[in-house]
Amino acid sequence: MTDLSQDAVDRVDLAGLGRVDIDDVLAYLHRDLKRLPGYLDLYRRYLRQRWDVYELDFTRDTADWTERMTEVEREAFVAISSGFHHGERQVEVELPVFMLGGSEESKIYMSSQIEDEARHTVFFDRFYREVVGLPGESIQDVLDASFHHVAETFVGPFGLLAYQADELRADPENPALRVRYGTNYFLWIEGVLALSVMKITLTYCRNRGFLPGYYAGFTATCRDEARHVQAGMRFLRDSVREDPRLLLEIHETLRTILAINGATSRRVALESLGWSPEDVRRLMIRQLNMKLSDVGIGLAPDIERMIDNIEPELAGG
Ligand SMILES: [Fe+2]
Ligand SMILES: [Fe+2]
Repeated sequence: MTDLSQDAVDRVDLAGLGRVDIDDVLAYLHRDLKRLPGYLDLYRRYLRQRWDVYELDFTRDTADWTERMTEVEREAFVAISSGFHHGERQVEVELPVFMLGGSEESKIYMSSQIEDEARHTVFFDRFYREVVGLPGESIQDVLDASFHHVAETFVGPFGLLAYQADELRADPENPALRVRYGTNYFLWIEGVLALSVMKITLTYCRNRGFLPGYYAGFTATCRDEARHVQAGMRFLRDSVREDPRLLLEIHETLRTILAINGATSRRVALESLGWSPEDVRRLMIRQLNMKLSDVGIGLAPDIERMIDNIEPELAGG
């Protein structure tokens, strides 16, 4: 932990975020989780924290990528970040259907999250184009060029999200459908998978002094994620307070997610980025348990056993 205060994380600009430690951003995310800000508070914070993705300079990153990183490191990095590249694009296009339901305040907030996710998609488009060197005229071309790196495990939570978004499209105000969608997107994809990828890749960059453009942009993305996870956990907590039966929907969705977690025939070489599978498993379990305990969502014993056996497989959004 550095001595940078939580208020500094809240206020710092894009250049300053290039010096912030990921652990401080994760602490910042969890600090507010206990008192869960309102949707308009989060919207105001968005207006203050919004950053310009075209301000990032990837010149040093390109040199690090081609001259300093090894082939094995590059492969592991691309394997883990391609799930994010595609994940950002998918949440950007699946979020409008969730925005259709809920209060007016939540709709205004959701418009900001959609813009964040669109900006994160552009961030990865620039990274893959300018640093990794993938070809393409359009954003879709670059997505297509990185697709073969995407792990099979991406299909699990993101396939489920596509299915949940389709269900919600037919009945956008349905509380049970909204809670299933929110459990997968806000709790699992953002609160566990995305934050774990952030911690792993940003720690690698920091320890090695590599990829300063990626570091600043992805740390800024993580600070955006603090708002997304707080709004999402507020939504789940408020839903259960209004109708305690919805806790069963959270449980059922977690059972589905945990049952399909880790279904893969090839493993990412996380060791080359300085992480053992056991470290990643512990990181994911900790991320999940912190979210649940901070907002007071209890679990059934069978789900707790499934959580203990989480497979260290990652994507994000
Ligand atoms: Fe995102
Ligand atoms: Fe997000």
